[in-house]
Amino acid sequence: MKLLVLLASLTVIAAVRRNDDLYGPRYRPLWDEGVKTKYTKFFGLSSSKHLIENAGFIYENYTITSEDGYRLHLSRIVHPDHAAKKDKGFPLLLLNGFLMHSDSWMVQTEMDSNMAFVWAALGYDVWLGDHRGTVRSRSHINMTSESTNRKYWDYGMDEIGTYDVKAFIDLILDHTGYKKLNLMCISMGCSLHTVLVTARPEYNDKILGAFYFVPLINNINRQLDAPAALQIALTGLELAAVSYEEQGLYETFPRLVGLKKEFFYSCQPFVYLLVSVLNWALGGASHLPKSPAFCYQAGLSVGGGSTKTVKQVVQVYKTGTLAKYDYGRKKNMEIYGQEAPPLYDVSKVKSFVAMYYSDADGFSTVEGAKRSLQTLGGTTYECMIPRFSHFDIGAGTLFKHVLPDVNAVLNSLTGYSDDREKHKSGECPSMEWIRSLN
Ligand SMILES: *[C@@H]1O[C@H](CO)[C@@H](O)[C@H](O)[C@H]1NC(C)=O
Ligand SMILES: *[C@@H]1O[C@H](CO)[C@@H](O)[C@H](O)[C@H]1NC(C)=O
Repeated sequence: MKLLVLLASLTVIAAVRRNDDLYGPRYRPLWDEGVKTKYTKFFGLSSSKHLIENAGFIYENYTITSEDGYRLHLSRIVHPDHAAKKDKGFPLLLLNGFLMHSDSWMVQTEMDSNMAFVWAALGYDVWLGDHRGTVRSRSHINMTSESTNRKYWDYGMDEIGTYDVKAFIDLILDHTGYKKLNLMCISMGCSLHTVLVTARPEYNDKILGAFYFVPLINNINRQLDAPAALQIALTGLELAAVSYEEQGLYETFPRLVGLKKEFFYSCQPFVYLLVSVLNWALGGASHLPKSPAFCYQAGLSVGGGSTKTVKQVVQVYKTGTLAKYDYGRKKNMEIYGQEAPPLYDVSKVKSFVAMYYSDADGFSTVEGAKRSLQTLGGTTYECMIPRFSHFDIGAGTLFKHVLPDVNAVLNSLTGYSDDREKHKSGECPSMEWIRSLN
């Protein structure tokens, strides 16, 4: 009996030590170490509510109308310890990648790897923004969102960054009383930071720092230089967008919620094959789970978008530059006053940026990442994660090895830890050891 008590206390001490070492004293997880994520089969509007509540947090939702009339949805993750407090911690705004929506921050296989939940457990006030056209943000003050309504779907990265991200920031700062927040973004979500401050430089003052995960700014791998499988995927996506438009549809994947469910059920018997093929296509560098978890990840993450956004993203790859939508020479002259679409200016980003990138991400290159770090207008911190595919941050099984470094930088920047130097240290310790993990 005494031995049992001793063992139990040692386990508790070990657990506390682990949390303190890795995450800092404010870490209050609502799960045990190694606990698997509790997914949901609700692929519709309420998926984020279920994911958040299954993790033990309190779900809140908000709607804000952008200056151009789109009604946008945000989910907020409230730690039960914060429920009665006015100050729910330093606010973080999470921006997902291309064609995804905010559930993509909560689909890692283990609780400890889900950034949204880990940051909420660290004491941050976590807000997930669903940009226009995704499943929870499909209404407008005076337009309907049927796939055939060209006007509703007439948006690209420019509108998402300039109107939606601005609206998210305004709502969060207004609601919390904080003067600044942190932007956390994956892939195209990070392009939106540049888009926002190119159009509205004053928003630099509202952002303490940004955390970029496999960002796409001026580090883009031109399509010509990208792996063949990626070129095929992008060409396929562009063909799909063009074919939708020929049918008079301006939404990519119309009737998406039904498709998500269908995908989920047909994915399961083939998941091993599916992930193996994906892994091969990604150059053998992906660590996606070869289990039904993958079917949940894909089904829950996809949020949809306009055919125009698809065409703009493909354009970005074809040219290797982050630029406004290309309407063709004549219309560009009318709209932009020049023949080529104007570039977004990465140097306009003045806040601190921590950038996590990989040498095996077909969408970008290491040289490109170095170039971005030099172009960004504020202090930077960089971390090269070896052999990570573009999807490993959001869904791969190895991300838990990287997250402690992210948390240390985040806590140092916000003053949530005693270490106030980590975010000024320029670079993470080498992560070469990750290369050999499977
Ligand atoms: C958001 O909250 C409102 C009111 O509480 C509720 O009616 C609505 O269904 C919620 N929306 C989502 C997507 O959870
Ligand atoms: C619809 O809303 C937009 C954005 O507020 C506005 O510019 C436009 O004039 C409105 N159109 C009509 C028909 O009310």
